[in-house]
Amino acid sequence: MNKIISIGIIGGTGSMGRWFKDFFSAAGHNVLISGRTTDITYADVAKECDVVILSVPIDAAISIAKDIGPLMHKEQLLMDMCSLKEEIVKSMTDNTKAEVLGTHPLFGPFTDSIKGQNVILCPGRGERWLKWIENECSLRGAVVCVMDPLTHDRHMAVVQGLTHFTTICMARTLQKMNMDACNVLSCSTPVFKINYNLIGRLFAQDIDLYKSLINKNKNFKDVLEIFISAMDEGKDALLSGQDESGTMFMENIREFFKDTCKDALKESNKIISALYS
Ligand SMILES: NC(=O)c1ccc[n+]([C@@H]2O[C@H](COP(=O)([O-])OP(=O)(O)OC[C@H]3O[C@@H](n4cnc5c(N)ncnc54)[C@H](OP(=O)(O)O)[C@@H]3O)[C@@H](O)[C@H]2O)c1
Repeated sequence: MNKIISIGIIGGTGSMGRWFKDFFSAAGHNVLISGRTTDITYADVAKECDVVILSVPIDAAISIAKDIGPLMHKEQLLMDMCSLKEEIVKSMTDNTKAEVLGTHPLFGPFTDSIKGQNVILCPGRGERWLKWIENECSLRGAVVCVMDPLTHDRHMAVVQGLTHFTTICMARTLQKMNMDACNVLSCSTPVFKINYNLIGRLFAQDIDLYKSLINKNKNFKDVLEIFISAMDEGKDALLSGQDESGTMFMENIREFFKDTCKDALKESNKIISALYS
């Protein structure tokens, strides 16, 4: 399928929607944007476009899929960009005869290019458009991975849920200790500075989005329990007063990560160099 496609992006007024409007326009496709206040309605794009993309918050996407799904026919594709997949893929599949594809670009709207970025595809119905989108992304250098929605959400409970949760809790710790930028950055190490920037990065963006990555992921509670038990173990081992137990605890973890540690050291050195260049 190498022809020009008409693509309608619902929520194309938002940050990811605008990013993908530019992406698909640069690829030569015709892109229409629809939002709650645009002249082009959701129904217009559902009736007119080959591909309809839902790029709105997840609750809105689930509800819009119910409204526009019945307007679409089986030659079309209904896809979404939501960060969780189980409910939205079900909502799309249940409410339309069109092909259905859950899509999760694992990058944000400040990314310059799709090259090297991960994109997860969760097929709902049909093969034809799945191949098309795989091609559109991988031709431009994305790393595309196909998986079922449940597996996706389980991974995201760690990749997004745990990552953002620990950032929020680190921020809360600094707040409780009244360690703001004025009194902490002058004595920061490069690694602390990166962590500090990651806190700022999160709170500079849409809090509701981050909140939903944690509290709408059904798998997060299990991850959190494991995390809390790991903290307890760490506390026992490292604060036991016996140096050896801390060493054994950390050696055991190092054994799990093995050679990847050396690569991670190289990669993180690049980040630190970029921070001071
Ligand atoms: N930002 C990221 O880093 C990122 C990365 C990967 C995936 N995603 C996913 O991409 C989707 C869009 O995220 P985004 O960052 O682009 O958000 P955004 O900038 O807030 O844009 C979302 C758009 O959705 C529309 N919208 C907002 N609330 C709505 C509601 N209650 N009902 C209907 N429409 C509503 C708005 O358009 P109108 O006001 O014009 O209607 C808004 O422009 C989300 O599902 C998110 O999980 C985001």
